Amino acid sequence: MKINKKSYDGVARIFDFMRGGDMRRWGPDQRALFKNLKGRVLYIGIGTGQEIVNFPPGLDITAVDLSYAMLTRSHSRVQNYNGRIHRCQMDAQATAFPDNTFDTILTVCVLCSVQQPAICLKELKRVLKPDGELVMFEHVLSKNPVYALILKFMSHITEYLEGTYLDRDTVNNAEMAGFKIHSHKNVYLDIVKALRANH
Ligand SMILES: C[S@@+](CC[C@H](N)C(=O)[O-])C[C@H]1O[C@@H](n2cnc3c(N)ncnc32)[C@H](O)[C@@H]1O
Repeated sequence: MKINKKSYDGVARIFDFMRGGDMRRWGPDQRALFKNLKGRVLYIGIGTGQEIVNFPPGLDITAVDLSYAMLTRSHSRVQNYNGRIHRCQMDAQATAFPDNTFDTILTVCVLCSVQQPAICLKELKRVLKPDGELVMFEHVLSKNPVYALILKFMSHITEYLEGTYLDRDTVNNAEMAGFKIHSHKNVYLDIVKALRANH
């Protein structure tokens, strides 16, 4: 299996600076979406943990990330969370968890970064309980031809810098992996989306 050639290790030190504005802008939509997190939660691609501040209190979360440097930088946010977050370095495309382990799986701007989103989504389906829910806050390729062209161009740059793709069709990828999307909200144009899906 291919894993990310570009690791987030290289951008970990400047990641919060790069994302600061996004988090302020997306806070209300994230808080509304994250109300649906319940039971045993798997949070893939925790990064530096910027969205932890938008989590409801009291959750039991297992958080994974491929990048050790990003995981390290999430430390103070994890410590300050009023609940339990257990972190480990792991590839979300091939986790070590048994089938049907989690009640909820959360992805935040990570299906743009995993090397093989289709394989990752199948893996998430495997470890999600049959009555569980996949909760996604993701950016995708726009259906608008002008925006799509711009995003495809910018994607070459972000792919080179950090291994992020701005041209993913995450809705279609999730459906192809067998998920049924039952809640779909456009947060910014048709590019940033809040999605909920089940088996
Ligand atoms: C754009 S960052 C998002 C971080 C955080 N969720 C946020 O929104 O601030 C993408 C994260 O996904 C992680 N990642 C990429 N591929 C991964 C994989 N195969 N398994 C686990 N984490 C991965 C990266 O290391 C990085 O921390």
